[in-house]
Amino acid sequence: MNPMSSAAIENMPSYENDFAVNGEASHVGLDQFDHLGAYKKLGPVYSVEFRGERWVCIGGLEANAAAWKNPDIWNYHEALKPFREVMGDRHVTQMDGEPHREKRKQLKPGFGMGAIARWIPAIDGVIRSELERLEEKESSLHSFFMTTLTLANASTLLKTDLSVEEASIFIRFEETFINSTVMSDEDRASFYQNPVFVEDKKFVFDFLRREIRERLLGREVDDNFAHVIERTAVEGKDVDIQELVSEAYLLLMAGTGNTSKLLNCGLQYILSDIEWLDTLRRELEPYSAESFLEGMKSFPILKATIAEIERLFPAAPVLSRVVAKPFEFNGFLLEEGTKVLHMQTITHFLEEVYDEPYRFKPQRWLENDYSKKAQGTFGGSTHICLGMNLARVHMPIALANILKNYDLVCKTEPDIQLNFNYGVPQVADLRGVFRRR
Ligand code: HEM
Repeated sequence: MNPMSSAAIENMPSYENDFAVNGEASHVGLDQFDHLGAYKKLGPVYSVEFRGERWVCIGGLEANAAAWKNPDIWNYHEALKPFREVMGDRHVTQMDGEPHREKRKQLKPGFGMGAIARWIPAIDGVIRSELERLEEKESSLHSFFMTTLTLANASTLLKTDLSVEEASIFIRFEETFINSTVMSDEDRASFYQNPVFVEDKKFVFDFLRREIRERLLGREVDDNFAHVIERTAVEGKDVDIQELVSEAYLLLMAGTGNTSKLLNCGLQYILSDIEWLDTLRRELEPYSAESFLEGMKSFPILKATIAEIERLFPAAPVLSRVVAKPFEFNGFLLEEGTKVLHMQTITHFLEEVYDEPYRFKPQRWLENDYSKKAQGTFGGSTHICLGMNLARVHMPIALANILKNYDLVCKTEPDIQLNFNYGVPQVADLRGVFRRR
């Protein structure tokens, strides 16, 4: 890098002046930026006016490499503060540096692959019985997946008595909470006063506190939460109940909305590709509750299908960041405090990386070995999605059970729009009926 080329934000290409027609972009809504077009014209770094401030947008393979090489260049405390506001200051997402790394270790008995894989047959059992419960009844698939995965967590990672009605309050809380994390500071502050949110939050936190109290009083349970508690509630130290609430929440519920979105979008595409569906169903004939205990070696077609779903429907396509330590990217100096939109999944839609990027083509994963830097669905580096292992166990089990045993009769026209904006993931909700094959 030529240090003479360093220049700050005001010298970089600007979305409004160098890309949008007549500077019209400064007033567009959250979901209306054409970042892919801007990236292709302006390159891997440009600025944009967003919520009355200038943000730097970075994307592409080099941006992913730079962003993930050293996580300490970012200030998560500031960028992810909505998580702290609701979950407390020991919530993993908004922690930085060494305390964050320690926290990830603390959570490993909850989310490491070994800790998740032991529950595969139990997860299969819950998904199978929820499908049976829903057979022939019309429903929203998004809500079906969220309920089913939450109930699966309540029988495995954090064993607790959670009724379907209680699960629905947890789900409403999770959905509104996650939506609020991408709001402006002002909108978020007013959202926190919303009476339904206030009540749901109280319900969820009280429920988890009761569970924690019983555990701390000695009720022994064989689940992942028991192992996480052991690491968090260290003898001789005061127990931070809110820290345990945040951990319990992660085990019971977090991320299920994202997993559900991927399953929804993915199913839509699988079902519309008859040839691929047939191949997949043939592969799934010998599927049983124990099949994935050894990983997915015997199910390459399903594995490729999930990789393609992850590529085409990243639930969080763009991440917000704040610079903690100044660094240079592509000839521009990003100063401390600069707000950045890291478009970590823009690589998914580049022809030079993925041939015909807008086509659902799972076989590409059987024929190619793509760089990890080109895969941003779960983020990267030390803050890579904590629930990635869980999502990668939930998704194949759900798809295997559905595709092997059911036809889905859709009641609404599929409508998926690929979108590429901060806080605006691909939206898709199918309504349909599962009918036994
Ligand atoms: C397909 C489903 C999922 C997708 C696409 C997804 C996506 C992501 C992404 C992109 C990040 C990085 C955020 C950032 O760096 O700012 C992330 C982080 C995180 N995810 Fe997920 N997620 C999924 C499922 C889950 C599940 C099931 C959980 C359950 C616990 C979960 C919990 C978390 C947590 C706690 C973090 C923050 C980790 C940290 O900062 O150390 N996610 N996820």
